[in-house]
Amino acid sequence: MQRLRKVVTLAVCLCLLVLYADSSTAQAPAQATAKLRDPDVIYVPTPPAVVEAMLNVAGVGKTDIVYDLGSGDGRIPITAAQKFGARGIGIDINPERIKEANENAVKAGVTDKVKFMNADLFETNISEATVVTLYLLPTLNEKLRPKLMKELKPGTRIVSHAFRMGDWEPEKTLNVEGREIFYWTIPKK
Ligand SMILES: C[S@@+](CC[C@H](N)C(=O)[O-])C[C@H]1O[C@@H](n2cnc3c(N)ncnc32)[C@H](O)[C@@H]1O
Repeated sequence: MQRLRKVVTLAVCLCLLVLYADSSTAQAPAQATAKLRDPDVIYVPTPPAVVEAMLNVAGVGKTDIVYDLGSGDGRIPITAAQKFGARGIGIDINPERIKEANENAVKAGVTDKVKFMNADLFETNISEATVVTLYLLPTLNEKLRPKLMKELKPGTRIVSHAFRMGDWEPEKTLNVEGREIFYWTIPKK
């Protein structure tokens, strides 16, 4: 009788252990894709010709690290890697966009050159960038300006699709397919 009780206790303990392990692993993917907060701007992709013009105006090449802040489906970092030989980093607050960008990087065969981070662009260190691309909003560009000035090295190129950055006069302005592109470089400290 005592032996039977021991066997039953052991079986119950094993069941509880299995249930606990199962519930803790089941939670892991949910945490990995947890929503950070609502995006500051909705997703609208930059047309391919405008992407190429943005990378061209910045003179992107093999030694560059291109950061796209709010990277959407990853088209800017992916094009920077595929057509310009650069390394590309994309940051997006929306996990759906990051999933899409990673799938697109696989399709484009550039997973060795690009990385996508599910993060808030305002909370992420961008100091290694040599080129920063933006397609946000005028207010967000203005809010971002002190961070760009503080973290980026002098000479780092900034390219914005459609939106200016307050009273910071762009060095170049382009019009491609009816879209404006603005270009600046970070001045000496
Ligand atoms: C207008 S789309 C631009 C997408 C891409 N850069 C392009 O040009 O095709 C803006 C992107 O910024 C992302 N976003 C908005 N607020 C953000 C934040 N605080 N941190 C990171 N990404 C953000 C959105 O999820 C969206 O994908």
